[in-house]
Amino acid sequence: MASFHWVPGLITLFFSIWIARVGATWWFISQLPLHAFGAHVLCDNIPGLVGKQRRLCRVHPDVMVSLGKGARLGVEECQYQFRAQRWNCSTLERDASVFGKVMLKGSREAAFVYAVSSAGVVHSITRACSKGELQHCACDPTKRGSSNDHRGEFDWGGCSDNVRYGSHFSRMFVDAKERKVRDAKALMNLHNNRAGRRGVKKFRKLECKCHGVSGSCTIRTCWLAMQEFRRVGDYLKMKYNGATQVMMNQEGTGLIVANRNHKRFTRSDLVYFETSPDYCVHDTKIGSLGTAGRTCNKTSMSTDGCDIMCCGRGYDTKTVKRVEKCECKFHWCCFVRCKECERWVDVHTCKGPNPTPFPSQWRKG
Ligand SMILES: *[C@@H]1O[C@H](CO)[C@@H](O)[C@H](O)[C@H]1NC(C)=O
Ligand SMILES: *[C@@H]1O[C@H](CO)[C@@H](O)[C@H](O)[C@H]1NC(C)=O
Repeated sequence: MASFHWVPGLITLFFSIWIARVGATWWFISQLPLHAFGAHVLCDNIPGLVGKQRRLCRVHPDVMVSLGKGARLGVEECQYQFRAQRWNCSTLERDASVFGKVMLKGSREAAFVYAVSSAGVVHSITRACSKGELQHCACDPTKRGSSNDHRGEFDWGGCSDNVRYGSHFSRMFVDAKERKVRDAKALMNLHNNRAGRRGVKKFRKLECKCHGVSGSCTIRTCWLAMQEFRRVGDYLKMKYNGATQVMMNQEGTGLIVANRNHKRFTRSDLVYFETSPDYCVHDTKIGSLGTAGRTCNKTSMSTDGCDIMCCGRGYDTKTVKRVEKCECKFHWCCFVRCKECERWVDVHTCKGPNPTPFPSQWRKG
């Protein structure tokens, strides 16, 4: 088919002209249109993939679609969890490093991004398995026969989510890059990737249906189901708050707690080894976008409050008109009709850093 031939060239051209490749990572998949997967040419041209990831991409085009969705799920969850913080997990346009230089450091924020994105991939691939969208996996085949819980015996039925497959694929693909080098950052990334995968496993719940005479529930069929991804996001955010600072052991083979007085960490905890910058001002060297122009809340005492968000630089206030639905009435049957009301609200945004004062003779020629 002649029409196919221009596609490889076009994709290569697209990536080489439009995309900054410095520090490229597999997260870049989250920024691509999903229908693009399945084309072998894409696997060879996506910036940031290592050899093993390209191979997996070529062999499993069906899984790659879910992997792309999972990467996106991770990014969206990160932006939700950090919406009220100075560093807000924003992505850079047309940049294959996705989050910029922040991720090159071994910071707490990097720990969270690695964990939440590897968790997103597990979640998304596992969902696809249960829906029957993938060639090589289906519902968990080990959940058959009968079993017991605190309420007694039940039969396995329905579809138990196959987290094992999702977790296995996520580990193969996501960890591939970190397995090429064995420095402290790679060990940190591997640890946090695993903590993310474990997070998904943790939020599974036994769901049951009752059978028997008039719903008496003498017979139950149950399946093990993943919970919504928000639960995993909340959990990993909590792990971010309690993350452990680590350092390389003397043999250079593993990570140990940096401060001996602190408690040991488990495989489910997040670890980091560099303290974070304050993210107050724009600094491309460390990948900080700064908080100038960010919206803040005048009355909040938390991280979204103007004091903390604006780093003491102060804020500007603008009064803007908001149109909202109001005076909604229910009409028989069955619709709701609302009016539109205008309301004026104050919006506060952080000031930028003080410019260095101009000598007066420069002000006007
Ligand atoms: C995140 O922060 C950046 C830079 O401070 C800003 O441009 C962007 O609008 C913020 N995103 C959200 C969702 O607040
Ligand atoms: C600002 O913070 C206060 C106190 O935390 C909260 O009640 C209010 O809803 C917030 N306002 C906005 C616009 O988020």
